[in-house]
Amino acid sequence: MAQGKITVIVGPMYSGKTTELLSYAEIYKLGKKRYRIFKPIIDNRYRLEEIRSHSGMKEAAIPITQSAEAERFITDEKAVFFDEVQFFDRELAETVKKLRHLGKDVICAGLDMSFKENPFETTALLLCLADEVIKKRAVCHECGEYNGVISYKYVNNDAEIDVGGFEKYYAVCLDCYQKLTRP
Ligand code: ADP
Ligand code: TMP
Ligand code: MG
Ligand code: ZN
Repeated sequence: MAQGKITVIVGPMYSGKTTELLSYAEIYKLGKKRYRIFKPIIDNRYRLEEIRSHSGMKEAAIPITQSAEAERFITDEKAVFFDEVQFFDRELAETVKKLRHLGKDVICAGLDMSFKENPFETTALLLCLADEVIKKRAVCHECGEYNGVISYKYVNNDAEIDVGGFEKYYAVCLDCYQKLTRP
């Protein structure tokens, strides 16, 4: 059996990771190939059983607590999607490897770095396994250039795991990040 392909989509918030993931899903939909989308249950920004982009695109998704739970839902799907991978446990890397050996394409999207510029470990593991890496950019909230590579948290809360959106975070380029964090 042919091996599947692992694609990993990374970037800061608002860089279009979820949009890109949904565009990939559409390709399987158009090809009449079955797929499933999973999300970590912690991501409670929208309805529990859907993923949604900041521009309002959405699709049904299965919320799970542990990465390995995904395996129980998979039968004859051609592709398996995971959004917000930074919130999954590191076992996700093992699950993804297994799925690839079963001939499934796996498409993962998530943050590469926290607002503190620290790598998210599960994303880092997936990047090592990837056949293709797509690194997205956002428009910098400060200077308006299309080189936003990191998320900046502008509220006074130090937690690196902290679900939210425009009320807490924006995306910036590295020059603006430096000015904001080391003025
Ligand atoms: P991500 O999953 O990476 O956070 P989404 O796919 O959910 O990104 O959202 C991308 C959408 O966010 C864009 O299509 C655009 O409409 C909107 N958006 C809001 N702020 C920005 C920004 N600073 N840069 C780029 N897109 C932005
Ligand atoms: P998004 O990339 O689809 O916009 O979603 C990122 C999610 O991650 C959002 O719920 C905010 C959260 N988050 C953290 O928990 N820690 C961080 O350091 C950053 C930047 C975002
Ligand atoms: Mg997203
Ligand atoms: Zn900037």
